[in-house]
Formats: sequence, structure tokens, C-alpha cells
Amino acid sequence: MVTDDQHIQNDVRAQAKKRRTFAIISHPDAGKTTVTEKLLLYSGMVRTAGMVGSRKSSKTATSDWMEMEQERGISITASAMQFQYKDTVINVLDTPGHEDFCEDTYRTLTAADSAVMVIDAAKGVETQTRKLFEVCRLRRIPVLTLINKMDLPGRPALDLMAEVEDVLRIHANPIDWPVGSGQQFVGVVDRASRRISLFKKLAAQGSAKAERHEISLDGPEARALIEEDVLQEVNHDLELLDVAGNPYSQEAFLRGEVTPVFFASALTNFGIENFFDAFVEMAPAAIPRTADRHDGTEIVVDPVERPFSAYIFKIQANMNPRHRDSTAFLRVCSGRFERDMVVKHHRLGNDVRLSRPHSLVAKGRNTVDVAYPGDIIGIINPGQFAIGDTISLNDGFNYQPLPQFQPEVFARVQPTDVGKRKAFDKGMEQMAAEGTVQILRSLDDLDFLAAAVGRLQFDVLQFRLRNEYRVETRIEPLTYTCSAWLAGDLDTFRAPSDAMLVKDHRNRPIVLFRSAWSKTFTQERNPDHELLEMG
Ligand code: G4P
Repeated sequence: MVTDDQHIQNDVRAQAKKRRTFAIISHPDAGKTTVTEKLLLYSGMVRTAGMVGSRKSSKTATSDWMEMEQERGISITASAMQFQYKDTVINVLDTPGHEDFCEDTYRTLTAADSAVMVIDAAKGVETQTRKLFEVCRLRRIPVLTLINKMDLPGRPALDLMAEVEDVLRIHANPIDWPVGSGQQFVGVVDRASRRISLFKKLAAQGSAKAERHEISLDGPEARALIEEDVLQEVNHDLELLDVAGNPYSQEAFLRGEVTPVFFASALTNFGIENFFDAFVEMAPAAIPRTADRHDGTEIVVDPVERPFSAYIFKIQANMNPRHRDSTAFLRVCSGRFERDMVVKHHRLGNDVRLSRPHSLVAKGRNTVDVAYPGDIIGIINPGQFAIGDTISLNDGFNYQPLPQFQPEVFARVQPTDVGKRKAFDKGMEQMAAEGTVQILRSLDDLDFLAAAVGRLQFDVLQFRLRNEYRVETRIEPLTYTCSAWLAGDLDTFRAPSDAMLVKDHRNRPIVLFRSAWSKTFTQERNPDHELLEMG
């Protein structure tokens, strides 16, 4: 006889296997939004992908997804969007870019089981992509690469492969290869089968699916339909790749040692379905996660065998102007989540009822009744949740703390009215708990510094201190541009004169530098110390 527990486990196994939870990492303008739209188009979630035109004005205001959320059947939290692609349930995490690039962008990646790196074929690997990729590497998140904008004049595909390998220090293994480029980009060839997908545009700007026609690279049809010089180049490149490269290994991909590479034009839809199909095949479902037991030992939490557990990776305040509450976003790591469930809150050591779980769709809220490993849920947070908190049905472990990301902008923050010091301290503490900014203190504890990944965070800090704590602040930007946590003996550390030594909220020393050069110089000058990228 099947017990209730076994019944739940079977359900979780089936549902977890179907899910792909991922984030798109890219530099602004590489095509993240367009790729997301096309995923919706090929999922049948939208009939035409046409929101692109009105996007510019909204780019800095809110998530681009807010425009997509009115569409039927898509469930969007402010942090993730869920829908079905063929037989797979997709959870795409929002990684704010542009002006909104901040700690949240990095932290969101910790909730992903894989990442899709979108690269502009003309620009190659750009700075924001590189930073986000580093986080994936540190978190061992497998990365698939999509070289986009193949319909525009770009760099040779072989050069792009070499750049990915050199700049990101990962093996690039092309699964398909472009047939032509720029005006001549007509399709992609699957390297393993040597089958070409040839495309025909059906609608302007790719608002409808492209027509796909499959032929063999080596057959007469290819010679009849594809220009001779293009075919020659493809054959030449494929030969080189076969000689130089290793065969694709799924295990090496899952270990983060190799990135499978695809080519497409998200705008015209050429190659995009090939990529999506391969993505759902290759990308992992929820993976086991490491946690700490109360006795200090580590356990690996299996998504299916363990009952419900989750952790909070993001907190967003004031999402509903009528309520002062904030929303805590949790990522289900194991077991089945059910509405009204009573779970253990490890940090506080008490029980909490998860009674108003929701995803946010348009301006209203959608109640979530059940969720499975990989899913993202929003929970009303009257103050009991902080970033990194673990909740679970069975007490006994804590997901390992989220890393602190190396800040790049710094400012001295003070209340303009000294009489408001108490409210200021309280507000700063809360902002630090939510991860709005990191709070640093001078070694003598007299000075407060705010540090963040993006400058916008300071505006958010000032706004929230004013609105929620009635404190006006003076924010004085500092000219440091990078930082590092310091490991080693403080007494023997030789800091350059233009650097500043401060401490973070856990009293760990952190050095602020005026330039990357100064940081490298400092490391060379202090070979017995280590400058760490993440705390
Ligand atoms: P992002 O979210 O990564 O910032 O990029 P987004 O998708 O917004 O794309 C940036 C620009 O690049 C957009 O043009 C978009 O239409 C274009 N684009 C995306 N993929 C492709 C592609 O495969 N080929 C070509 N030729 N263009 C592509 P825009 O002019 O900035 O915006 P819009 O006027 O089209 O809205």
C-alpha cells in the first residue's frame, strides 16, 4: 500500500523533474528581454511577441515583465515568472539589469539551478555578463550560452568561442553552429547530427514563430538552398571544431566546467526554438543543496526525499501601497509546499504559518496552493523574515548563508538631525537586514558607510529612511571603486595610503580601494594576506 508520505514523494518527484528554474545573465541590450519574450511566444503564452516596441521608456522604471504579466496564464512574482514550455514548467528569475543592477541581481542567481548567458555576437563578453558569470562559477551554477543577434554583422563565431574561453575561463562547447551570419544568417546546424534547421521569417520583427525546415548538411538540398561560400565556411569551421574540441559531456556541464553554446537571432526567431528545446533537455531540475546542521556538520538536502524546506533570497518592501508589509520571496528547495502550512523558522526558533502565499499577477495577487522544488513564492512579511532565513517542515538544518557581494559604490551616511540618531540606527539596521545596502563601520565605530553594487541603492536607502523612519539623511559619495574582504593578520597588513580599512556588519575587515590597480598592487605587496571577492 502507498502511504501518504510516499504519495507526496511521488508527486514531488514527478513535479520537480519537470521544472527548470533559471536566470538569464547578460549585459544590458544583449537581448535578455527579447529572449524571454520569445520563450513566451514558443510556449504559446502570448500569441504575438510585440511588446518590444514600447519597452524603451519603461526600461528604467520597472521590470520589463510587468508588461507581460497581463497575458493569460503567466504567473509572475516580482522575482520570477512561471509558465509551461512544452512538457516543462519554466521558472525564469528576474535579474535586474541597467540602472537597477544591485545586490538583488546577484542574490537572485543563488535561487537558480542554471543560467542562460546571452551574448551579443558583435560585442562578445561584456562587463556585467562577466560579473554575473563569476557568481555562477562560485555557486557552481551550470551555464548555457546563447550567442544572439546573429542576423546583424558580428564577430566570427570561432573568435567568440575563444573569447568565452579566455575571458571566462570555461570550456565552450558549441552544440549548434551558425549557417551564415548577418544578412546571410539562414539557420543553425546541429553538430552531432549534421542536420540544418533552415528558417524563413514569417512576420516582421519575429512577432510570430519562424518557419523551420530540416535538411542534411551533406545532402543535395543544402547545396541547392545555401550559398556555396556559406556552406564551405560551415564545413571548414565544423572540421576545426571536431579536431580541436572535446565531445560534449553533460557531467562536465553540470560541474560548471563546460558551457554548451548555441547561436540564434532572438529578433527573427532563427535558432531560438532549437535553443529552448536543448535547454529543457540539458538544464538540471532542482539540485540537492548543502545545509548546516545545528551541530555544525553539513548535510546535502535532496529535493525529493526531504519534506518541505525553502530559504528567503529576496525581500521587497512596500509592494502594495495599501499595506506597510514587505514581501519575502522564497525558493522551494525540497518537498511539497502547501498553503497554510506551519513550518519551523530556524533563526527565530519558532513556528510560522505560511498563510498568504502568492504570486503577483498584474496589480492583484494570485494565491499559491501548492509548490514544488524550484518554485518561487512570495509571502507577506510582517518583519519575521530576513534574507538568508531557512524555513522547513522538519527542524534541523539551515541553508548556508548567502554570500555578501563585493560592493562597488560607497558613501558616508548621516542623519541631518542628530536628534534622530536612534531612528536612523534602527532604519540602517533594517535596510542592512533586507540587503538594500551593506553597512560598513569605521574601525573606531564612529562612521557609518553604506556600500552597494549599484548607485540606485543609495536613493532607495534615502527614500526609505525618510518614508519609513522619518529620518532625513545626508549621503556623501566616496571615491572608492572596489573592495575586498581581508583574510590574514591585521597588524602586519600594509594598506596603500589611499585605501581605507573598515569592518562589515559581522566585524570582518574589508578594504576599500580607489582603483582596481590599487587592489592588485596591495595584493602583491601583502603576499601573506588574501583579498577575497566575496564575504
Ligand atoms: P536586454 O533586455 O538584454 O537589455 O535587451 P533587449 O531584449 O531589450 O534588446 C536590446 C535591443 O536589441 C532591442 O532593440 C532589441 O530589439 C534588439 N535585439 C534583441 N535581440 C536581437 C536580435 O537577435 N537581432 C537584432 N537585430 N536585434 C535584437 P532596441 O532598438 O533597443 O529596442 P526596440 O526599439 O526594438 O524596443
